[in-house]
Amino acid sequence: MLSKNRSSSLKAFLEEAVSGPERHARFLNTLSFLEHLGSRKIFLSHRRSTLPGGVLQHLAEETRHASFFRKHAERIGGRAMAYVSGDMLALASSRFYFARLDALVTRLVGGDQDHPYYYVSLAIERRALELYGLYEEILGGAGRPLTLKGLLAEERRHLVEMEEALLRKDPRYPAREKACSEIEGGLFERWLSAVSAA
Ligand SMILES: [Fe+2]
Ligand SMILES: [Fe+2]
Repeated sequence: MLSKNRSSSLKAFLEEAVSGPERHARFLNTLSFLEHLGSRKIFLSHRRSTLPGGVLQHLAEETRHASFFRKHAERIGGRAMAYVSGDMLALASSRFYFARLDALVTRLVGGDQDHPYYYVSLAIERRALELYGLYEEILGGAGRPLTLKGLLAEERRHLVEMEEALLRKDPRYPAREKACSEIEGGLFERWLSAVSAA
């Protein structure tokens, strides 16, 4: 979780991000990129596995989230977009956030080849629920340009699946889960500063 201070800067950032169509579109395309990196991570971490149904579904859903945000970014921005700086808020920082999270969590829990996938996903699902939940709230009621209701339900299910799997698989889950959350918290604060300044 974010500190109280950070939570209010997240709220301030989101309010500003939705204030005009160009910035709103670039924000949505940035979310699309993060979802894309998430689906890519699932794919890469299972390239030597037999792909159980649950993993395949998770991969499909994160890819769909990337497409969902891109579609709304293009609609709100009124133009085609790509994962390039001019269509995003903080391309390099978004890449950095994901790559560092992956590297640091893998270093912490590596060993069993499944563990990094579960712990990275766990940290990201928690952050997604907080970020998307607040964004959904800020978009308000009637006349809103999009709703994240279906997407939030899927992220919630992913989080439960990661928690259940880790409780089953890793006796060191509570301590490691806390350490991973701390790693993610620091990286998210850095990302938030970058997108706020973009
Ligand atoms: Fe997602
Ligand atoms: Fe998810």
